[in-house]
Amino acid sequence: MDNLARLIEPLPTSEFLSDYWTRCAIHVPGPIEKFSGLYSWQDLNELISDRRLTYPRLRLVLNKELLPASLFTKRSPHGPDNAIDPRKVSNLLRSGATIVYDGLHDSTPKIREFASLLQFDFGEYAHVNLYCSRPEAQGFDLHYDAHEVFLIQIAGKKEWRVSEPTRPFPLDFDKSGKNNPPGKQYLRCLLSAGDILYIPRGHWHEGIATGEASLHLTLGINGSTGMSFLRWLMDDLMMSEVWRANRPLAFSGDTKDFRGHSELESWIATLRTSLLERLGRLGLSHDYFEYSIGQDRNPYPYSLPNEYASLENMALAQETKFSRSRFQKVFIRDVQNKIRVTVGGSHLVFGGNVGAWVRCLFSETEFTGSDCLMWEPQLEWSQVESLLRPLITSGIVHVETQKVVENSES
Ligand SMILES: [Fe+2]
Repeated sequence: MDNLARLIEPLPTSEFLSDYWTRCAIHVPGPIEKFSGLYSWQDLNELISDRRLTYPRLRLVLNKELLPASLFTKRSPHGPDNAIDPRKVSNLLRSGATIVYDGLHDSTPKIREFASLLQFDFGEYAHVNLYCSRPEAQGFDLHYDAHEVFLIQIAGKKEWRVSEPTRPFPLDFDKSGKNNPPGKQYLRCLLSAGDILYIPRGHWHEGIATGEASLHLTLGINGSTGMSFLRWLMDDLMMSEVWRANRPLAFSGDTKDFRGHSELESWIATLRTSLLERLGRLGLSHDYFEYSIGQDRNPYPYSLPNEYASLENMALAQETKFSRSRFQKVFIRDVQNKIRVTVGGSHLVFGGNVGAWVRCLFSETEFTGSDCLMWEPQLEWSQVESLLRPLITSGIVHVETQKVVENSES
């Protein structure tokens, strides 16, 4: 977990994972220049100067309340609906409004890479939002989030208070509200540029104004839960007639004298047996792991101009350079003398005799045709080519075009 290690240094990753992850907030001070290459005020100015920017990608908060879009958007015959009006935004910023920009990883390449690296480390979905507030301005009221949060202070200062959860491990629909008061406060800290504050899911927190304008990013990690596992299991159980069969007509007619309906009890017993049988089946954890890895997608799905190259006419050579996404998880499994590979939403099957070759390929992110030959010396070049082609057409292996020799007829 090298990327996580860099984010939270000097705190050791093992200590963070054992003592803090999902359990307890922690403030990790860092040198002022720690995130200077990640984001800056200049990056923010360029971001919000984009004339295609629309609400709700950019939102404004004033006095702890989200402002209605009509106060800072405009209708333009040549632009998108809900286009941001820079003049109105500037006026509201001067009045003390806080900027909230959701999904920064979708619009800024270096933040996409940052989020993708952390997503790779955690094996969970990662997203980045941006918050910027003027001196003495408080953004959102006391609340908790339904995902893990790393506050990354880019510039300025902000004080934070963190309190114990009152509903541990809330799910997306478990919103924090006024009739759901916070637990005991256990951390109070001043975040300066270069600092990190990790806040577990469900822990109440609020940012308190200081005398400096503040720019911070939040890296959110949406961890999978037992409910996620159950949703996968539901899809799996749909294959079973037992689970697709009708419920008995236990609720027909007059129901006020229900004292245990034998047909209903027998139906529930059948479902229970089926469920326990499925949960106890050998390889369940492998099946779930394979499914989870299969959900992983390359955050950079294109490799233009590779898409325009005709694979049939592409002469792969031993000098050809290949690459593979360094953000993508892979699961390699031996199944009935075959090698089953799950990567990037694809399931590929190879002969059992090339297992070592497949494992070598997926341990590298850059390699050549010669490397491919070296991994399995018994293979002829034509056999290596036929192993590579399905990986290339699936978009899992990219051909570095400048090294590709096209056939003269093409
Ligand atoms: Fe939050």
